[in-house]
Amino acid sequence: MNADLLDRVNRAWYAEPGSVAGMAAQCGFTDEGERAAYRLLAHEMHQRPILDLGVGPGRTVDLLQSLSTDYVGIDYLPAMVEAARANHPQADIRLGDARDLGDFASESKALVVFSYHGIDSVSHEDRLRVLAEAWRVLVPGGTFWFSTLNASGPAARYRPWLPLVPPADDRPGAWLRHTLQWAGALARVPTHTTRYWHGRALLEAGTGWAVAPFFAGGWRLVTHYTTLPELQREVADSGFAANPAVFEDAHGHRVGVTDDLRPVFGFNVLARKPRPRMAPD
Ligand SMILES: C[S@@+](CC[C@H](N)C(=O)[O-])C[C@H]1O[C@@H](n2cnc3c(N)ncnc32)[C@H](O)[C@@H]1O
Repeated sequence: MNADLLDRVNRAWYAEPGSVAGMAAQCGFTDEGERAAYRLLAHEMHQRPILDLGVGPGRTVDLLQSLSTDYVGIDYLPAMVEAARANHPQADIRLGDARDLGDFASESKALVVFSYHGIDSVSHEDRLRVLAEAWRVLVPGGTFWFSTLNASGPAARYRPWLPLVPPADDRPGAWLRHTLQWAGALARVPTHTTRYWHGRALLEAGTGWAVAPFFAGGWRLVTHYTTLPELQREVADSGFAANPAVFEDAHGHRVGVTDDLRPVFGFNVLARKPRPRMAPD
């Protein structure tokens, strides 16, 4: 797999003015899994140092600064950094890449965050770099909180020739709106299918993970998907404690490998860097 090409494809979509503006319009939690993870961390992270990776136009800035004013956000795209600074002039926002956190000292952060499937934008090899860098900058006992797409979930099963149109509601004129939505969705099938096959050229897969096209942005993104067992393995192999807390998106329930994970779109993960064991006397 060509990691540089994957990077170019995903950066190109994120950098589009429409993507920046679309993300800038979002506020609050993305889903119940994110809310549950935030609640669990809130008390513990009070006024402790936080590093927010892939901050985008800044949806997470207020959420995280309400935990701690010791906050730095980074993004690898100048357009995102500019938007985040404009939206949050009081926050420390910098240009930086999650795969190389050389500007941050080892053991300097209590919480590292990579929200909204941001970590899924990079190749499998680079994902392991992000995990290693997050581990390095965290203090012992610190937490890497990230969200990631479920390889057994709906996003991995979507296809552009099966368009997603919400069911008609019962408001006046609903059937006309529904028909127009279907017409628009069907008209986009050829373009989306062409993009999907271009994205498939970057396909890479291993045991429990894959890099494959993603429906958001009209099938212009190519992202990483992981099963829960593989997620647990990669987190533990990167030095984090085994059995991280993992929350599903719809209800914010904590999930494990024996649950039915087919309806779960993505996971919010709290991976904890272990504290060194005390030497016996
Ligand atoms: C889906 S957006 C999420 C934005 C924001 N964190 C949120 O939750 O609303 C993902 C962001 O991650 C950034 N990103 C992706 N890969 C990155 C990397 N390797 N280093 C830094 N930022 C990255 C993208 O530019 C984009 O702004």
